[in-house]
Order: sequence, then structure tokens, then C-alpha cells
Amino acid sequence: MHAVLGVPYVATPQRVVRTMIELVPWKGRRTVYDLGCGDARILIAAKKMHPSIRAVGCEIVPTIWLLAVLRRFLSRTDVTLHLRSVFREDLRDADVLFLYIMPFLIAKLMPKFRRELKDGTIIVCRSFPLPGVTPLQTRTLPWLGSTTSLFLYRWNHRSAKTSA
Ligand SMILES: C[S@@+](CC[C@H](N)C(=O)[O-])C[C@H]1O[C@@H](n2cnc3c(N)ncnc32)[C@H](O)[C@@H]1O
Repeated sequence: MHAVLGVPYVATPQRVVRTMIELVPWKGRRTVYDLGCGDARILIAAKKMHPSIRAVGCEIVPTIWLLAVLRRFLSRTDVTLHLRSVFREDLRDADVLFLYIMPFLIAKLMPKFRRELKDGTIIVCRSFPLPGVTPLQTRTLPWLGSTTSLFLYRWNHRSAKTSA
């Protein structure tokens, strides 16, 4: 837990990262965001698996963002890393979004998604689903002696209009 901002940092294990990336129907999709990217592991893995994508992450905690910069350097991948809040990221060009942040943040992001996301944008959430939106697919994986859930969405303004 980051002491000042009160935001938890929990890195997604590589096996789960891989499944999150494999859930995406990649054909024709170019611009990929991880909102609250931590050490950028999802974006780095996605870029390695799909070199033609543009991978963009934002992270609000400077020390964690620095970890992402270091990891990017060590992996020699071309990933854009913004030190800023998810609320300051322009999502109008997003084809794919990865999301593993607290449910209250997801709820606060929903109006932004309604304003900015194109119909057809793929969203993969880990653990916390989009409120009021029915996933295309749900996947449950073993994690730390328990399970973790993944939710796959294809954004559609009509179905997301009335959600929280
Ligand atoms: C649970 S971690 C997930 C990290 C990474 N996406 C992963 O799956 O390994 C959530 C991350 O979101 C960041 N975060 C929380 N609130 C944020 C905000 N408003 N803007 C940007 N990043 C934020 C946290 O600092 C943390 O690194």
C-alpha cells in the first residue's frame, strides 16, 4: 500500500498476465493502455507478444513509475509510460484497455469511459468487473491458494449507458 496516496500496488503474476493478453482478440487492434500500470509488466509482455502495438501505461505513484521505467529499459521494449493519473489519460484512441485497480476507481472512471471510449474497445479487468456491464467472458484462474477472476468486455455505449 502506498503510504501517501493510499493506493494498493499488487503486481499481476506472469501466468495471469499471459492469460489477460491471450483473452484479447488482437486482429486490427493497435493502441493498448494499462490504467494503473504498476511496473508495466502487462504492457511489456503484450508488446513482446504483439510487436506492432502501441503500448501506453499510466501510473500515479512516482516510485512505482520508476520501477516501470527500469523494467522497460531492461526489457528493451518500446512502451510509453506516463507519470499521471488515469483521469488525465486521453482514451479516445484506445483499442484495448487493461484494468486492475480498485472498484471505487473503476466506478469513478465509468463516465470517462462513456465520454471517450469507441464502441468495440476491448477491456480486460482483473478481479474487479465494470459495474453494470455484462462481460463477454469471465475466466477464473488459481492464485495464491485461491482464485483470481478476469472479465472480458467489448465496449458498447448502448449497453454501458445506464451502468453506475
Ligand atoms: C493493483 S496494481 C496493478 C498494477 C499492474 N497493472 C499489474 O496488473 O501488475 C494498481 C496500480 O494502479 C496504480 N494507481 C492507483 N490509482 C491510480 C490512478 N488514479 N492513476 C494512475 N495509477 C493509479 C497504483 O499505484 C498501482 O500501481
